[in-house]
Amino acid sequence: MENNTQKANITVLGSFVVDLMSRTPHLPVPGETVLGGPFKLGPGGKGSNQATAAARAGANVVMCTKLGQDEFAKIALDNFTREGINTEHVYQDSRYETGVALIMVDEDAENMIVVAIGANNYITKEEVYQLEGKIAQSQVLLTQLETNIDAVIHAVDIAKAQHVPVILNPAPIQPIPDDLLAKVDILTPNETEAEKLTNMKIKSLEDAKAAGSILLDKGVKNVVITLGKNGALIVNKQKVEHVPAVKVDPVDTTGAGDAFNGGLAVALAEGKDLAKAVEFANYLAALSVTKVGTAPSMPLRKEIDDFMHKTR
Ligand code: RIB
Repeated sequence: MENNTQKANITVLGSFVVDLMSRTPHLPVPGETVLGGPFKLGPGGKGSNQATAAARAGANVVMCTKLGQDEFAKIALDNFTREGINTEHVYQDSRYETGVALIMVDEDAENMIVVAIGANNYITKEEVYQLEGKIAQSQVLLTQLETNIDAVIHAVDIAKAQHVPVILNPAPIQPIPDDLLAKVDILTPNETEAEKLTNMKIKSLEDAKAAGSILLDKGVKNVVITLGKNGALIVNKQKVEHVPAVKVDPVDTTGAGDAFNGGLAVALAEGKDLAKAVEFANYLAALSVTKVGTAPSMPLRKEIDDFMHKTR
């Protein structure tokens, strides 16, 4: 981080799940068993990954999530402690299991994921409102759809009341009420999510622009559609801007979207404009796909700054 840059405060409301990941020569078709390996178990979940990305990129991060009271919960707490993430709003409930994700990654670095969100589905309104003071002190609220949507709605309402910008990463995709979309400052769907939200196919930048416009009509202020190796497209009322991806050789693309969202939140919280913030986020995503895993693949700020310096 540049010395004169103020450290950003970011609140993340989102999931923690334990990732159970196996490499596989190819992704199985229905009914097929594939001999895979090696196997890895570690911290994951879109909320936790994005919090980890933001913390490693240099922000003060407060995490709000819900865990069970089981062995997997310890993996979450160890991860948050190791990454210096504030855990005052990490709740535990013995009635539910800590979430898990079953992840397969093939030789082309593509993945398939089934996520059983467990305790993440039971964050209460009271628990979200306990976060009010932390959201008020943040420059950005970052959230996703891997918890109960009511919790997301309450957190967004708090942020709006406090004039704190909201980034909603609509993943995993599910129907989003229009009045929630209308409160979102930056919506960050990938291509598939943008297709589902707009009911249209995206095969080109022109299509992505059209999808972005549909989402603007629903009241979203800025849409940033992530396009994998084709970078990202910013669509808002003032402009449409394509920000190219940074070229790397990927080994595992799982968590690239999380790296992007964590990086985007940090850059915006530090005061960068949206195009510069998306460029910064692209660097995080590129670095993350050069390593195996999700949270463990998030780059440190020094790596990001060095990489930007080298490739620009
Ligand atoms: O975005 C990647 C994450 O999605 C994985 O860590 C997995 O937990 C799923 O939630």
